[in-house]
Amino acid sequence: MASTRAAIFLAALICGAVAATGELQPNGLSLGFHDNSCPILPYIVKLFVKVAFKKDAGIAPALIRILFHDCFPQGCDGSVLLNGTGSELLLGPNLTLRPAALKLVDDIRAAAHAACGPVVSCTDILALATRDALVEAGGPSYDLPLGRRDALAPAPLNLVITLPAPSLNATALISSFGGRGLSVTDLVALSGAHTFGISHCNSFRNRFTPETDTDPAIDPDFAAKLKAKCDGDVPAGTVNQTLDVRTPNKFDNKYYFDLVAKQGLFKSDQGLIVDSATNRTAIRFALNQKAFFDQFALSMVKMSQMDVLTGTQGEIRLSCTVPNKPAGIDTVAATNNDEDEGLAADM
Ligand code: HEM
Ligand SMILES: *[C@@H]1O[C@H](CO)[C@@H](O)[C@H](O)[C@H]1NC(C)=O
Ligand SMILES: *[C@@H]1O[C@H](CO)[C@@H](O)[C@H](O)[C@H]1NC(C)=O
Ligand SMILES: *[C@@H]1O[C@H](CO)[C@@H](O)[C@H](O)[C@H]1NC(C)=O
Ligand SMILES: *[C@@H]1O[C@H](CO)[C@@H](O)[C@H](O)[C@H]1NC(C)=O
Ligand SMILES: *[C@@H]1O[C@H](CO)[C@@H](O)[C@H](O)[C@H]1NC(C)=O
Repeated sequence: MASTRAAIFLAALICGAVAATGELQPNGLSLGFHDNSCPILPYIVKLFVKVAFKKDAGIAPALIRILFHDCFPQGCDGSVLLNGTGSELLLGPNLTLRPAALKLVDDIRAAAHAACGPVVSCTDILALATRDALVEAGGPSYDLPLGRRDALAPAPLNLVITLPAPSLNATALISSFGGRGLSVTDLVALSGAHTFGISHCNSFRNRFTPETDTDPAIDPDFAAKLKAKCDGDVPAGTVNQTLDVRTPNKFDNKYYFDLVAKQGLFKSDQGLIVDSATNRTAIRFALNQKAFFDQFALSMVKMSQMDVLTGTQGEIRLSCTVPNKPAGIDTVAATNNDEDEGLAADM
């Protein structure tokens, strides 16, 4: 009996190695999920992303941040894409998710559904488009297991506010990421996404107001420049600042150079090069871009699969911004309870 089981297990291992793309992973995703149902999908996504990136390279940081804000609070389920009443876009860390990237995801969905029928979720499209945009910006590529389904309702406020704040120190970030199954290495690598994209004064004013930050220390000249810039932020929210002062639009390891030079924009960034739990990894990534890219790809594959809905859970949304059958208050509450249990079970 035991040996039969062992033989089946071995056979499964061998077949798995040969036909890996068809195998469902334990979480219900698989590499070849859309190979039969929508073989053209990868080409559609790549083309749309390429065109959008040519027009505005900011689409890449915009997409990856949307993916983070989707996956981190309750799981990668496209809940962040929903708009209107009760949507996550109206909550705390909301405002600055870029509309053009949200629209791109739905444009790709429309093209994929026109070609294949409604078989691909908005959540899969967000994960794929983010991967392709990362490559356009100079970052690493990775294989992405697919088969995610879309949430029926937005995530509740109590989960959305678990998104980490830029004022957190490394200890608090480690605890925040750890609570979602992300390791210290994942934290240091994924923070490297701040190597491109922009921010607004509200997110980093605490580095020079009321005083120049000393814990962790910010380069005083850099702080003075930021202060002068933000003094001109009228009306509030109009000024933006690149996250990486060295190569603002390129996905590379220069973010870690910024940290070494005390020119990380957020307290949460700068802390990584100071804290003894994270500084070795951060310095390794500064010295070795390949080490950063390899780890970033692994951590992205992991983040892109946090608490996914698969099988008959959720739905394939016909428009990324609204559930197919808009949920009433009761349905929303029921969904949220389920998700809370799911989270607790995962920890
Ligand atoms: C470690 C904890 C993190 C904190 C505290 C944090 C915080 C922030 C803040 C405050 C902004 C700027 C918002 C604004 O002022 O408009 C931002 C932007 C951004 N974040 Fe993070 N973030 C974190 C992790 C991540 C992760 C894991 C990713 C992706 C893997 C990511 C990707 C980005 C990108 C690309 C932008 C720029 C977005 C754009 O240009 O539209 N962040 N983050
Ligand atoms: C929601 O998205 C739809 C389609 O993208 C758009 O037409 C509508 O204006 C958006 N509504 C809100 C409240 O943002
Ligand atoms: C974002 O959240 C803040 C705080 O919860 C809220 O005051 C603001 O109106 C929201 N932004 C948008 C665009 O709705
Ligand atoms: C990190 O922040 C937490 C919460 O604000 C605080 O209690 C703790 O002392 C800080 N740790 C360090 C090492 O600064
Ligand atoms: C950031 O600010 C610059 C300079 O004012 C502006 O040209 C650019 O459009 C802004 N970017 C975004 C995404 O708002
Ligand atoms: C990391 O930080 C600790 C504590 O401040 C320090 O002793 C150590 O030398 C640092 N390591 C590196 C590689 O900078």
